[in-house]
Amino acid sequence: MRARAEGLTIGFVPTMGALHSGHAALFDEARRRADVVVVSVFVNPKQFGLGEDLSKYPRPLEADVALCARCGVDVVFVPGIDEIYPAGFDTKVVAGAAAADLEGASRPGHFDGVLTVVALLFSIVQPHFSVFGEKDFQQLLLVRRLAKDLRLTTEIVAMPVIRDVDGLALSSRNLYLSPEDRRRAVCLSRGLVAAQDTLQRGETDASLIGAAAAAVVEATAGTEIAYVEVRDARTLAKIERVEREARVLLAVKLGGVRLIDNGPLFHSVRWQR
Ligand code: PAF
Repeated sequence: MRARAEGLTIGFVPTMGALHSGHAALFDEARRRADVVVVSVFVNPKQFGLGEDLSKYPRPLEADVALCARCGVDVVFVPGIDEIYPAGFDTKVVAGAAAADLEGASRPGHFDGVLTVVALLFSIVQPHFSVFGEKDFQQLLLVRRLAKDLRLTTEIVAMPVIRDVDGLALSSRNLYLSPEDRRRAVCLSRGLVAAQDTLQRGETDASLIGAAAAAVVEATAGTEIAYVEVRDARTLAKIERVEREARVLLAVKLGGVRLIDNGPLFHSVRWQR
């Protein structure tokens, strides 16, 4: 990229479009740090599994470009499929052990597809840094691992989950919720709060902290829990006790829509020192 040769800092946000205020927060962060902000809009077929309908994925390109313009994005990169995967393309990045469960369990091959396209996009855009949301926490960790393992020069910047006023994490999938399920969906963030409250009251047993979050979700009509897990925040390894930075992660089906959320678990007395 010419900007790099001119000594300008390039910030990059890869997306699959259907942009919302959660994405805008990533663009704002990139804008704050970079001379040139690049956003890619590419619906990556390699991260869709069997039964996940690629053709139904929303593609409101005009609205996406308008949002990018409002956020001061310099370049909106909308590659065609042949530009990313030209004929003969036959390489993939295989995600490691941290991809095996949580989202990876129900979406085999998903993270291989994500890492393959992220590596490719980094190679094309050559950004100094790239911003990812903590909303897809497992993805963020895997991208960090990718950058570290392949000695990529792109710094990975994480942005906290952006929430609606009632606490629901912003996601393109929220649009698929019926008004009733939209009201119920607040149980995910309330579950996270219940987990944190349980830790705050002195409980460190990871399964009991997870159970507190699960109880809030289960008390809400129409919910079906896929998982509620308390994990090490750096590696996503299973833990028995919350003794250092941990994360509670959950996936819940509501009216056929699968929602995910996660939040930090912090022991304010011990960790604020
Ligand atoms: O998080 C997403 O939108 C996608 O997984 C990403 C990182 C743009 C790769 O296609």
